[in-house]
Amino acid sequence: MHYVGKTALITGASSGIGESFAHELASRKMNLVLVARSEDKLQALATQLRDRHNISVEVITADLSCEGESLRVYEEAQARQLNVSMLVNNAGFSTHGAFESISSHKDHQQVMLNVLSVVDLTHAFIPGMLAKGEGSIINIGSTTSFYPLPRQAVYAATKAFVLSFSEALWIEYQKRGIKVLALCPGATNTDFFNAMGRDVVTGKHSPQKVVRVGLLALEHNRHYVIPGFRNSFESNILPRLLPRAVLATLVGSVSQRAFK
Ligand SMILES: NC(=O)c1ccc[n+]([C@@H]2O[C@H](COP(=O)([O-])OP(=O)(O)OC[C@H]3O[C@@H](n4cnc5c(N)ncnc54)[C@H](OP(=O)(O)O)[C@@H]3O)[C@@H](O)[C@H]2O)c1
Repeated sequence: MHYVGKTALITGASSGIGESFAHELASRKMNLVLVARSEDKLQALATQLRDRHNISVEVITADLSCEGESLRVYEEAQARQLNVSMLVNNAGFSTHGAFESISSHKDHQQVMLNVLSVVDLTHAFIPGMLAKGEGSIINIGSTTSFYPLPRQAVYAATKAFVLSFSEALWIEYQKRGIKVLALCPGATNTDFFNAMGRDVVTGKHSPQKVVRVGLLALEHNRHYVIPGFRNSFESNILPRLLPRAVLATLVGSVSQRAFK
């Protein structure tokens, strides 16, 4: 796979897995478009990456949970003549708690960001990739893409969408030059749990490891990858062995014990 001189657009690039994608792709000499809400963090990261790697880095601030913002990001990229050949749909968050205790507005924003911004940005950027006959799309799913998760019901459902959507597009575009990958991490050491208001006790991977596993899987044209042997075993094997009601009960009680 060729990275040098090509341009990647990364959503949620201001922290965590998205920021790690920015560092890793910059070290492979890709030009970058960084997208998130926190302008200061994005500008600081852009300056650091330009200085360190001698690449072009553009910043587009956007709240991708708002209707129309994904299209505005695409139009802004077009206006700046940014020729995006890799799209990393990474921005996302999770609500947590008994379903009735979560504000419906927050869950609405969660679906807008985790699901609709992924679909809208993919719609926007895929025609340009098809015209060039090459491109790649990395959608960040989760181990929860593989099972329902009580107390994170909407989050797990959004990530099931991401996996299903990515695998279908992987088939549609595999003979047309576009690679599509669902990168499905388990617990990862980022601000994700702070944003959720709960933290897990153990077993977090580094975002750097998650990103490297993802890029290797993309290079091998995998349709999905789950970083880490234990996460991979649990997400691949348990849903095939257990009745769905048992699976949901089990992961619900395991995940409750995992939180501090
Ligand atoms: N950490 C984990 O354990 C874990 C496990 C599996 C999957 N994931 C997935 O990995 C992805 C990245 O999460 P992370 O762990 O790196 O968490 P994080 O450190 O909290 O990063 C989330 C990123 O998304 C951006 N973001 C949040 N809301 C946004 C909005 N409305 N519009 C635009 N950008 C927004 C944030 O930037 P701003 O606040 O500046 O907007 C930030 O850059 C998410 O899709 C998450 O579901 C995480």
